[in-house]
Amino acid sequence: MSQTLDAVLTRIDADRDQALARLVELLSIPSISTDSDYDAETRRAAQWLADDLGSIGFDASVRETTGHPMVVAHHPGPKSAGANVPHVLYYGHYDVQPPDPLALWKSPPFEPQVVEGEHGERIVARGAVDDKGQLMTFIEAFRAWQKVDGELPIKVTVLLEGEEESGSPSLDPFLMENKDELAADVCVVCDTGMWNIETPAITYMLRGMVYLEVALHGPSHDLHSGMYGGAVVNPLNALTKILGELHDENGRVQVRGFYDDVEELTPTERGAWERLGFDESTFLAGAGMKQPFGEKGYSTLERTWARPTCDINGMVGGYTGKGAKTVIGDHARAKLSCRLVAHQDPNKIERALIEFFESRTPPGCTCSFTNHGAAPAIRVPTDSPHLEAAKAGLGDVYGREAVLIGTGGSIPVVGSIQQILGFDSLLVGFGLDDDRVHSPNEKFERRCFENGIRSHAAIMARLAGRK
Ligand code: BES
Ligand code: ZN
Repeated sequence: MSQTLDAVLTRIDADRDQALARLVELLSIPSISTDSDYDAETRRAAQWLADDLGSIGFDASVRETTGHPMVVAHHPGPKSAGANVPHVLYYGHYDVQPPDPLALWKSPPFEPQVVEGEHGERIVARGAVDDKGQLMTFIEAFRAWQKVDGELPIKVTVLLEGEEESGSPSLDPFLMENKDELAADVCVVCDTGMWNIETPAITYMLRGMVYLEVALHGPSHDLHSGMYGGAVVNPLNALTKILGELHDENGRVQVRGFYDDVEELTPTERGAWERLGFDESTFLAGAGMKQPFGEKGYSTLERTWARPTCDINGMVGGYTGKGAKTVIGDHARAKLSCRLVAHQDPNKIERALIEFFESRTPPGCTCSFTNHGAAPAIRVPTDSPHLEAAKAGLGDVYGREAVLIGTGGSIPVVGSIQQILGFDSLLVGFGLDDDRVHSPNEKFERRCFENGIRSHAAIMARLAGRK
């Protein structure tokens, strides 16, 4: 390990309480991108990050979009002329999911708490791991390099988005308008997980997604269920019947052509995944479950990484208030999303889903649809020099080799960067399966946070070709 990296790692250790305090400050800002009541707070988080990056030698600014702002920051890299180092774009998102249901939080979501857990201290707050804690891992690594060496070992651009949790509507236009400014050799994305707390991971496949809202409209207004029950169609009965037909008894999605383009795993990949030694019961325990569930004939890992799904994310209609109300609601609504795998075309799946609902809509009802986003599944190359550098840097910190994993989640920016900016991404993250992402009591292990900072420092050294 180079002497400079040694000094950087020492500096990170000495600064750990301040790093935690900075994260706590950022987590205290409720930057909920889907809720316009929080627009000012979302902007405040962007400004906080631009100010922080500005304080460590970046040329940083908050940049307007038609939605929430982006933070863009540049660092020139080493001052020595002729240094042949890569230019890396670091991506993270500073927006968070809504915290509800609030009653289930043990402490308020935007009043971060450091509490003891099975792995030592953990930080509990909305956004702790998704994604504020993770984006601070690379910012803290930059800070340490800058403080120790007066510069960064590689050329860096930072892009922090404020709409990732609400479908990234401004992302593609922003990438197109700022293509030259955002040019780099590779993008490091910090929004993924580890294999387990001892084993770092690099994610090489992500699922895609189609998100659709469907509404079934019936009578012109809510009806007395005694006067009209049995005489006219009930949109809630009708919609739940259709939704009930989405899966067969083997857990296969019944939408026409859903599996047409899905490829089976190759024996090589299946073998590599088996060798990972997936601990199913720990994974399930992270969800408070003992039993797996899903498409027959596939393992849990295969079902989440390599098989498509269709899930109802929410349903409303009729009377859900206190007590009883004998009513036939005039409409019913459901939100559903399909996770897609390689080669599935999101537009084709969306059309097939619409056809699924339209062809089953009973007389007297009409249906309408709202699209909430579509993105294909993504794979990133596993044979690039950047990936080798990341593996080496993770190895320096963890003393064991990083594993290559898939994830069931979606990170649309990876596809956008591939298509618009023309380079690949490197997905290195430090989340754990039981971090309660998008749920009450979201947390980030302090150990993951600090090893994440160390890892980014070491990866930068490796990317610069410094051992
Ligand atoms: N950080 C997640 C993606 C993720 C989740 C990666 C779990 C690895 C493991 C990200 O913020 C996210 O939630 N993305 C959305 C994207 C969607 C809104 C298009 C998702 O996957 O639901
Ligand atoms: Zn995220």
